[in-house]
Amino acid sequence: MTQYAVQAPAFVKHPRLVQWVADMAALCKPDQIYWCDGSQEEYDRLCEELVAAGSFRKLNPAKRPNSYLAWTDPSDVARVEDRTYICSAKKEDAGPTNNWMDPAEMRATLNPLFDGCMKGRTMYVVPFSMGPLGSPIAHIGVELSDSAYVAVNMKHMTRMGKAVYDVLGTDGEFVPCMHTVGAPLQPGQQDVAWPCNPDVKYIVHYPETREIWSYGSGYGGNALLGKKCFALRIASTMGRDQGWLAEHMLILGVTNPQGKKYHVAAAFPSACGKTNFAMLIPPAGMPGWGVTTIGDDIAWIKPDSEGNLRAINPEAGYFGVAPGTNMQTNPNCMLSLNNDVIFTNVALTDDGDVWWEGLSDEAPAHLIDWQGKDWTPADGKAGRKAAHPNSRFTVSATNNPALDSEWDNPAGVKIDAFIFGGRRSNTVPLITEARNWVDGVYMAATMGSETTAAAFGAQGVVRRDPFAMLPFAGYNMSDYFQHWLNLGAKLEAAGAKLPRIYKTNWFRKDANGKFIWPGFGENTRVLKWIIDRIEGEAQGVEHASGISPRYQDIRWNGLDFGPELFEQVTSINVDEWAAELKLHDELFSTLAHNLPQELVAAKETLANRLGL
Ligand code: GTP
Ligand code: SPV
Ligand code: MN
Repeated sequence: MTQYAVQAPAFVKHPRLVQWVADMAALCKPDQIYWCDGSQEEYDRLCEELVAAGSFRKLNPAKRPNSYLAWTDPSDVARVEDRTYICSAKKEDAGPTNNWMDPAEMRATLNPLFDGCMKGRTMYVVPFSMGPLGSPIAHIGVELSDSAYVAVNMKHMTRMGKAVYDVLGTDGEFVPCMHTVGAPLQPGQQDVAWPCNPDVKYIVHYPETREIWSYGSGYGGNALLGKKCFALRIASTMGRDQGWLAEHMLILGVTNPQGKKYHVAAAFPSACGKTNFAMLIPPAGMPGWGVTTIGDDIAWIKPDSEGNLRAINPEAGYFGVAPGTNMQTNPNCMLSLNNDVIFTNVALTDDGDVWWEGLSDEAPAHLIDWQGKDWTPADGKAGRKAAHPNSRFTVSATNNPALDSEWDNPAGVKIDAFIFGGRRSNTVPLITEARNWVDGVYMAATMGSETTAAAFGAQGVVRRDPFAMLPFAGYNMSDYFQHWLNLGAKLEAAGAKLPRIYKTNWFRKDANGKFIWPGFGENTRVLKWIIDRIEGEAQGVEHASGISPRYQDIRWNGLDFGPELFEQVTSINVDEWAAELKLHDELFSTLAHNLPQELVAAKETLANRLGL
């Protein structure tokens, strides 16, 4: 390999890191290397450069101070699950739900792609901490990327900058994260606004050596490598080896009118309501209840010395879905978006602000859509969206008015309940409590959900999404189930009180295809039933898959939702469940290798209870 002149700034004191940067620069051959310090001055400067390059548009500072809009290439709008690989040494360690390639073969595939991939571009060195700086539960990564968009997004999404090098010292551990948009420039070649590789994409993880190599996309989870690649896929394997959990979960604090505070972690698949639930505002009919946000997407959960499960949010910002967000559905989110936001793939208004479907009842008379084309409400009526369905905002957690005072506590918060929630127009009731840990793991393992725009491909198709981790488990899904069972059994044997497990479905539809349950802030009513159950103060009725509230077990003050509607969102239809169990069977036969026997037994018990 040819030597590359690498002059690390004085704040980098880690020879192995500098050598790695030199080696990667020799491979990728960027025009220059830029070491990010994470300062506001740097952020502002990089944003200005993105504006000058045509990648960012500065929004009207009177409307949206310090905020920018990016439009991507139409081929680069979501995670690419079919291009995502877990390259463990053994195929069975990746399991049947992950794409796999032999690590040596993958390296031989990627090496020529990365060779010269950053020609004509800058390589940004982006140091970041997942979790509070210096926390014993936090882990450090360094992303090398040829995208300034990545560098500025990472400032919001992680603790990014100089201070990371102080934690790393001269030989601290870090996860190396390689990222390129895969679009080298020939001398004199004009760049495009959103460089990416429309034909070749690889999102690759080597769990044994804890490395990430991402090629060809600049979008979200494909490119911001601290998020799905590190904090879920790599971290889940770290958790398996070290006895903790890395989960696709929001974390919220909920305080009852007596002032007692609880913490709930909830796993909903992508674009199924985590951000909304994490920021919800209790309705007027529920005075004294309060909800605060610890995290909206990822939880790292470790048992403490007393056997409590304590959770931290490894992230420092939100990369949230824009469409559907408004002052009714999520006021705290709207207030978080007043300033210092990066929007991606939403529409631009004539006065230099942003718009997306669902922001207001009526669309503005004229917009520029996410592909830069003129748009009027007539186009909307014809089915053309002004904002891409997976358009997103990037914002620091500190913008959130409902941010929990403990969100940055290195010790995390004690989890009292887990919720798993899919997007199902039928079959699954509004809320069910699992009888015990094993039944709860079964519920989570067999969860189904309709696919959304968060991943490239068909939308609205029901697929199994165990633990909302189908695209994110870094190892064999059956081993992952076993890890959950083992952790519960170990803590229970040591005398710990495990969090209760619940399953929710906000998404049942009526015959006209409309959501029956009002959702959003009204979900507090379900949360109250959960908290009251934990306190032994709420009743319910037992059915085949667990315990659900009766109409009179829910607080209805201020909401007009009668018993007939409640019946529609909670009824158990045996024919639907017979079909559902067939899908559980299919999942279990796919996952047969290492599938825990307890889960097979749980399925048989459920079938018996249903009289099937
Ligand atoms: P990722 O960031 O992709 O992991 O997703 P997320 O789970 O954070 O998704 P988010 O909260 O942004 O979900 C957005 C979508 O869910 C929007 O289409 C919302 O309208 C819808 N949504 C959220 N909460 C509810 C609810 O209570 N009821 C209904 N019907 N829709 C909801
Ligand atoms: C998801 O798809 O679950 C997300 C968005 O949270 S992304 O970061 O793009 O994966
Ligand atoms: Mn997510």
